[in-house]
Amino acid sequence: MPSIAGKNILITGGAGFIGSHLTDTLLAAGAGKVAIIDNFFLGKMENLADARKNYQNLVIYRDDARDLGTMRAIVRKEQIDVVFNLATIALNYSFFNPFGAYSVNVDIAETLLHLMQEGAFTTLIHSSSSEAYGSAQFSPMDENHPLHPTTPYAAGKASADLLIQSFYNVLGLDCAIIRPFNNYGPRQNDQALAAIIPLTARRIMHGERPVLEGSGEQTRDFIFVRDTARAFLMAYENEKTRGQIINLGSGIEISMKALVEEICAYYHYDGEIEYRPPRPADVQRLCAATGLAETLIGFKPQVSFQDGLRETLDWYQKSNKS
Ligand SMILES: NC(=O)c1ccc[n+]([C@@H]2O[C@H](COP(=O)([O-])OP(=O)(O)OC[C@H]3O[C@@H](n4cnc5c(N)ncnc54)[C@H](O)[C@@H]3O)[C@@H](O)[C@H]2O)c1
Repeated sequence: MPSIAGKNILITGGAGFIGSHLTDTLLAAGAGKVAIIDNFFLGKMENLADARKNYQNLVIYRDDARDLGTMRAIVRKEQIDVVFNLATIALNYSFFNPFGAYSVNVDIAETLLHLMQEGAFTTLIHSSSSEAYGSAQFSPMDENHPLHPTTPYAAGKASADLLIQSFYNVLGLDCAIIRPFNNYGPRQNDQALAAIIPLTARRIMHGERPVLEGSGEQTRDFIFVRDTARAFLMAYENEKTRGQIINLGSGIEISMKALVEEICAYYHYDGEIEYRPPRPADVQRLCAATGLAETLIGFKPQVSFQDGLRETLDWYQKSNKS
């Protein structure tokens, strides 16, 4: 079985939310080197503060992972063995720049496949998204659930997955696809394009009413970000994942209304919740079947939603004060 120890890693989108936690996880697990390429669209240098303080073997490139020449130069210079592909632009970008939201996912996947075909690096662990499934046609949703992406972001994620799978089929490239459901935790972007937990936390702390789009009955399956980072590492270190798509979730469904009410209660907010019209193309129901991750790589989430949410909300409170 491959080991991360001593390997040279490239993380696309490594200054983002999940990418920065993955950076911490891989460095702590003894990676030879972690190189990051991030254009800092939503990434932040402060997400990498701990890693920069604690490790010498971290290299950061502020550049565009779509660009083949740039990526080739970085992969050669840093003698990369493994790429974890996490760069993307958040789902909400679909409403502002639909083509951009779609193409960033496909273009980066294409660039990485070019480099793999050239033999520039050996292994690709690619991050998909549960959004590729669209709303649950059955629940919990296993990896055979049909793909029915409803936004350009999700169409880009599904397209990238299909492209990578096709290259695996034809060329036998060493790659695996991880399909996370909704992630949450410290460092998730709370500004423009923010997801519901950081957005609600920020609004309450700024004296604004929390917002629910639609009825609030939409459900999601939440997984804590350090669990996700650990699962990415486990997926690399187990060759049974190659050619597979693997869900990463908790198997627990929570409604947006229940979630927002929990955040309100945690911050002792007893004002009104503002209801707005539903978001276009919003997925109504998501809940992961978690069996494949468990049987294939022995992965089970370790952080309960209660503990993870508490840590997350405390973190936003502290970072808001500083
Ligand atoms: N956060 C979630 O709930 C969630 C759920 C399912 C899947 N995912 C997937 O996990 C991965 C990471 O998501 P995240 O939540 O950390 O998002 P994020 O926005 O925090 O991180 C993505 C990073 O990619 C960078 N980036 C964007 N375009 C780039 C480009 N052209 N070149 C280089 N860097 C670029 C951004 O600056 C950002 O730092 C993505 O593939 C996403 O689709 C996330």
